[in-house]
Amino acid sequence: MRPIDLRSDTVTQPTAEMRAAMAAAEVGDDVLERDPTLARLEARVADLLGLEAALWVPSGCMGNLIALMLHLRRGDRFLAPAQAHVLGSELGTGAWLAGGMPEALAWEGGPGRPTPAQVTRAAGSAGPYYTLRTTLLCLENTHNFAGGTVTSQADQRALVAAAKAANLAVHLDGARLWHAAAALGVPLSALTEGVDTVQVCLSKGLGAPMGSLVCGSMPAMIEARRLRKMLGGGVRQGGVMGAAGLVALDYLPRLAEDHAKARRLAEGLRAFGVQAPLPETNILLVPVPQASVAVAALEAVGVRTLPVGPAIRFIPHRDLAMADIEEALVRMEPLAHTCLGA
Ligand SMILES: Cc1ncc(COP(=O)(O)O)c(C=O)c1O
Repeated sequence: MRPIDLRSDTVTQPTAEMRAAMAAAEVGDDVLERDPTLARLEARVADLLGLEAALWVPSGCMGNLIALMLHLRRGDRFLAPAQAHVLGSELGTGAWLAGGMPEALAWEGGPGRPTPAQVTRAAGSAGPYYTLRTTLLCLENTHNFAGGTVTSQADQRALVAAAKAANLAVHLDGARLWHAAAALGVPLSALTEGVDTVQVCLSKGLGAPMGSLVCGSMPAMIEARRLRKMLGGGVRQGGVMGAAGLVALDYLPRLAEDHAKARRLAEGLRAFGVQAPLPETNILLVPVPQASVAVAALEAVGVRTLPVGPAIRFIPHRDLAMADIEEALVRMEPLAHTCLGA
C-alpha cells in the first residue's frame, strides 16, 4: 500500500526544478570568501524579512543556537514559551553551549504564547550578584508543539514591547514564520518588527533538502558567521544547497494550499466523531486515547503520523495532493472508534 506520509513537512523530496538549479548553481568557497549563490539567497531572505542581513546555516537547530550564543552569556537566563523547540528539542544546547538557563513560560496568552505581563514578571529586576540575569526572550511563530499556532502581529508586538521594556533581547524561532505570515495575510516583515534575530527554515514546508537562515543586523551576522564556523557549520560550495533554497522560496504563495489540506483532514476526522481541533496552519494535533497505539494502527493502513505527547501529529505538505488527504481519510475512517477516540 502506498504510504501517505503526514509525519512532518520535512519529508518532502527536492523538486526537479530544485535539482536542476543545484546542478547549475554558481558556487565559490564560502569559508574563504562568499559563495555567490548563498549570498544571493541571504540577501533575498533578509529583504523578505525586512532585516539588514542573513546568514545561511545547515539547520534550524544551528540557526537557533547561533542566535542564542549571540545573545547569552553564562549566568544569563532566557525565557521561551512552554514546549518551545529551543527548550525541549535541541538537546539543551541553549544551556550547555550558549550558557543560558532556560525558563518556560506557560501559554497564558493563547496556545504557544505567554502574555506580555508574564514576560515582565519573569524578567524581574536585577538581584544580588549571585542571581541569574534574564537577558533574552525567545518566541516561536508558528509554535510547532502547540499545533502550528500563530501569534498575531499585535500579540507579537506587545510581547516584544514587554521584552524591550525589561531590557531583554528578542530571538524569534521562525522555522515556520512563512506559515504564520500566510495565515495572517501579512508580509513576513510585519512579523519581525523589533526582534533582534530570526531563524527561518527552508526545509519545513518549502521543500528544500536542507538549510535555514539566521537573520538580524549586519554586525550581528558578522559575529554569527564566526559562531557558525566555531560550530563546524562553515560550508565551502554551499551554493549547491542555496540554489535549492532559492527555488523553495517560490512556494511561499502556495502555502495556503497546505493549510487547506490540514483543515480538510480535521474536518474529515470530525465528521467521523474524532475530537480534532481546526488547525490554524499546516499542523494538526489530534488528542487520542493512546498515541503510540494510534500511530501504529495508522501506519498499518499506510498513513504515517508521529506521536506528540497525548496527541498524534499530521502535517500535510507540498508533496501530497488534496486527493491524498481524501485517501488518508478513507483509510482512517474504520479506525475512528477503535483508536482515534471517536
Ligand atoms: C519550531 C522549530 N524550530 C527549529 C527546528 C529545527 O530545525 P532543524 O530540524 O532544521 O534543525 C524545528 C524542526 O522541526 C522546529 O519545528
